[in-house]
Amino acid sequence: MSTLTRNDVTGRIMVALDYANAESAEGLLKQLEGIPCYVKVGMQLFYAAGPTFVASLKDRGYKVFLDVKMHDIPNTVKGGAESVTRLGVDVFNVHAAGGKYMMEAALEGVDKGLAVGATRPIVIGVTQLTSTSQQVLNDEIGLAGTTEQAVIRYARLAHAAGLNGVVASPLEVTAIKAACGDGFVTVTPGIRPAGADIGDQSRIMTPAEAFAQGTDYVVIGRPITGAADPRAAIEAIIESIV
Ligand code: C5P
Repeated sequence: MSTLTRNDVTGRIMVALDYANAESAEGLLKQLEGIPCYVKVGMQLFYAAGPTFVASLKDRGYKVFLDVKMHDIPNTVKGGAESVTRLGVDVFNVHAAGGKYMMEAALEGVDKGLAVGATRPIVIGVTQLTSTSQQVLNDEIGLAGTTEQAVIRYARLAHAAGLNGVVASPLEVTAIKAACGDGFVTVTPGIRPAGADIGDQSRIMTPAEAFAQGTDYVVIGRPITGAADPRAAIEAIIESIV
């Protein structure tokens, strides 16, 4: 049980629109009509449906997390950040592995793209992808130490660069908040309601557990999008938290 209201909780659920085209995404949105959740547009949908689809989501009042994980030279990321800020997204992300200067460049791009009176987007850093195993981290990527150590180091770097928060596993929320402060936003995928199919996620928590850890937003895809009744699925998730 938590002190969060139904509206608080709903606004902190980011539904991953992992679809190949706008038509499929619209099908889900229709089923969730009237539920004021966030929607997450990742690279599959963005590369297919593009800025027009995102602009149409914004026109209809959706809060949008554009999950395109920018990682390039600082000048290019600055330009990308400027473009997505002009698009009016509420949250977007860049890879912390791009370094402090690259993350600072993203914030400069936001400054450039922000219209007068518009709300600043929340810019978050991708720490270590939840799909990265210890072996891949050490032997392929070439970083020493544990995944949690890598995540905390990236979180500190993102914080030092002035970013608003990070994407991480819910298992790392406590350590991130301890290192970077309670106000440093955490966005956590790897969420599975009790009894749900785990799929390719490994380090998972239930939505209620993730909020109990103090996460700010949970990202949920297949437990909602793959359900026979997506509306019933998100309602059950909300009920499990409030
Ligand atoms: O279907 P599922 O709930 O596993 O979807 C999780 C979403 O979060 C996907 O869109 C995935 O790309 C995204 N994500 C993730 N792990 C990260 C970063 C993003 O699962 N570290």
